[in-house]
Amino acid sequence: MAARHSIHLANTHERYTCAESQDILRAMEVLGRKGIPVGCRGGGCGICKVRITHGPYEIRKMSRAFVSECDEDSGVVLACRVFPRGDLHLDALDVLARCVERKAKIGAP
Ligand code: FES
Repeated sequence: MAARHSIHLANTHERYTCAESQDILRAMEVLGRKGIPVGCRGGGCGICKVRITHGPYEIRKMSRAFVSECDEDSGVVLACRVFPRGDLHLDALDVLARCVERKAKIGAP
């Protein structure tokens, strides 16, 4: 069985788990967060941009149109192309941030 890691989403202070064989966007969707946009899932549309602030991960090929080498060096990646290798802390950016934060406010008491 694949190792599972804890992913901390700083925007909403939520945690979810993700297997090493699963990308962190797909794992986020499994939680039933309907506010999460569904894009290409292949690193080509840029809708799932996040900044990893802590923890080890492996990335697969992403479009340079959305993530420059400089961005990547600062932890900015496309969540659909990121596979955790330990517990991660991340900030959703741009479109993904607006979606997860809006959902969190709707669900707030
Ligand atoms: S869903 Fe398109 S780049 Fe991630």
